Amino acid sequence: MSLSPDWAKLRADFPILNQQVHGKPLVYFDNAATSQKPRKVIEALVHYYERDNANVHRGIHELSNRATNAFEAARTRTAKFLNARSGDEIIWTRGTTEAINLVAATWGAKHLKAGDVILLTEVEHHSNLVPWQMLAQKTGAKIAYIPVTGDEGVLDLSKLDSLLTSQVKLLSMVHISNSMGSINPVAELCARAKKLGIVTLVDGAQSAGHLPVDVQAIGCDFFAFSGHKICGPTGIGALYGRTEILETMPPYQGGGEMILTVGYDKTEFKHAPHRFEAGTPDISGPIGLHAAMDYLDAIGRENIWKHDQELAHYAYDRLAGLKNIRLFGPKQNRAGLVSFLLKDVHAHDVVTLADQAGVALRGGHHCTQPLMHKLGVESTARASFYFYNTRAEVDVFVEVIKEIQKFFSA
Ligand code: ALA
Repeated sequence: MSLSPDWAKLRADFPILNQQVHGKPLVYFDNAATSQKPRKVIEALVHYYERDNANVHRGIHELSNRATNAFEAARTRTAKFLNARSGDEIIWTRGTTEAINLVAATWGAKHLKAGDVILLTEVEHHSNLVPWQMLAQKTGAKIAYIPVTGDEGVLDLSKLDSLLTSQVKLLSMVHISNSMGSINPVAELCARAKKLGIVTLVDGAQSAGHLPVDVQAIGCDFFAFSGHKICGPTGIGALYGRTEILETMPPYQGGGEMILTVGYDKTEFKHAPHRFEAGTPDISGPIGLHAAMDYLDAIGRENIWKHDQELAHYAYDRLAGLKNIRLFGPKQNRAGLVSFLLKDVHAHDVVTLADQAGVALRGGHHCTQPLMHKLGVESTARASFYFYNTRAEVDVFVEVIKEIQKFFSA
């Protein structure tokens, strides 16, 4: 583990955090939606566009070589970030959502048929629900769900044996719930699935930049994440896939760069990962993401995880001391976010008034409508943290929440 970081010094790496919003110092607690970017990432993007911009894998001129080398170095870096065996197991996508859609459109279309079962959990966000529902509609496969316990948002594994039937072909689950902050036991579930020959996908949208991720230790076949939630640019993410399984999958989109030879009547495709990347890719995205991964790993994701969890528990405990509040997610072992509802106050009103006090929260269904319905709510307000947030900011946030309660009870 790296030495304990100087969190205040790290915070100063984020120019955006040093500003006032509505006349108040910004408290940015919407990190589960997107993270802020440190100077190093912004500089990597500027450097690329000022010095190296060219198309990749096509030219043989100097700039094209530089761009290609940087683009492929980012792929190898991503493999290291996830402990994949090589860059060949990393496919660039626009983010988690596209990564999951890619698996549904290629692996799913090839391997699923009527009567097969896709097993999900009740805490999934829409990215890990809708692609499977669309695939189920096309193939006649069915979807089953591992239930959650209620407001804690923790999986009820007592039903697992009966859910893991021989019809299940895929288990796809989120690592950390974006609306509950619960952490799914993904390694244990992948091990159970693997014994039955079930393919596994882990949605790491909320985990990849917050805790050390080792896809080999988790034992998943696929792992998806987004760059923008881990200090990288928007529009870039990655899908990890085990080589053995990627090589069984047909291409995703057709076009340039994913081909070996093209005739008027027939095309031969490249091996993974290039088979899944048609057309000119996002080039600056992986380069910015590379800088973000270096930045995070210099801090140490073990340190980030400890910091985020401590902040979330502190926020949870302080909110739990208020009256007329309903808190969601587990009391113990929660990831870096807290979802809550104030009695008789709509989540959107909480977020609007918090914004006036400089505090950025998210309110709504958090792209988890089925879970919200199950819990009997339309929406929650959510504070989500990253390593540049502080206890002092949590104190400001809690005082703002108290003021909102006062305003609505007056
Ligand atoms: N999934 C993102 C969130 O939770 C957008 O806010």
